[in-house]
Amino acid sequence: MSKTAILTGASSGIGKAISEVLLDMDYEVFGIGRDFSEAEELALRPSFHRVELDLLNTSEVEKTIREMSKGRGIDLLVNCAGVGFYGLHEELKVKDISAMVRTNLEVPLLLTNLLLRKLKESKGTILNIASVTAQQSNPHGAAYGATKAGLLSFSKSLFDEARKYGVKVTTILPDMTDTNLYRNADFESSKEENARLLPADISDAVKYILQADPHMTITEFTVRPQLHRIEKKP
Ligand SMILES: NC(=O)c1ccc[n+]([C@@H]2O[C@H](COP(=O)([O-])OP(=O)(O)OC[C@H]3O[C@@H](n4cnc5c(N)ncnc54)[C@H](OP(=O)(O)O)[C@@H]3O)[C@@H](O)[C@H]2O)c1
Repeated sequence: MSKTAILTGASSGIGKAISEVLLDMDYEVFGIGRDFSEAEELALRPSFHRVELDLLNTSEVEKTIREMSKGRGIDLLVNCAGVGFYGLHEELKVKDISAMVRTNLEVPLLLTNLLLRKLKESKGTILNIASVTAQQSNPHGAAYGATKAGLLSFSKSLFDEARKYGVKVTTILPDMTDTNLYRNADFESSKEENARLLPADISDAVKYILQADPHMTITEFTVRPQLHRIEKKP
């Protein structure tokens, strides 16, 4: 019988690549996003359920997750949706700081809260997509890095809380990956092959983590490109 996954950020970048890998691994995938215009190929996959939802609409999120999980087991939650705003901290807009904290940290906490009983029943897995910024100093990205550090902290504690019920919690910490995440930044990932990651590099990591022998849990998985380069946008 196929397993069921709920994944945020399915409409773009890393989440879209993870959706494809999960479908190839025979998961039924409920993929959440707001705009699927760049992910139309997912709609052609019979086991993909497109869920158009603004994750910042908390009452709608609660209602949708309850409906989606009613009467079915949930084996995997992937918290991948995220937004990034960068620059000197005093120059960030208040609404953008709020969107980052809510999307990158509050939403994973809420979804985990709503689904943890189901995940305990299935001895399931939670994958949180944080970032290498969770473990380093991030000038011009202090708030973004703080949301990711918070997510890493949550994941670590949650694993210790839930491991006795068979629940696995893994934080993936990608370095710069070629996606739309930097749409609001004055820099972007390098175009040099060895100096940036591709979404498929992260979805390969997901496959590796999910196929690991069940007697162990990979709690943190960092992925970096061979070279460290970023490019200033023209
Ligand atoms: N790219 C990198 O260098 C990098 C490095 C480390 C970690 N990450 C993390 O990887 C994750 C995926 O990002 P990405 O790089 O793939 O960027 P992306 O291409 O911009 O994808 C972001 C995803 O989040 C979804 N999302 C954002 N706000 C949402 C909201 N309010 N409601 C519903 N969905 C929302 C977007 O959906 P819609 O577009 O449909 O709204 C989209 O699917 C993020 O958590 C990011 O922080 C990225």
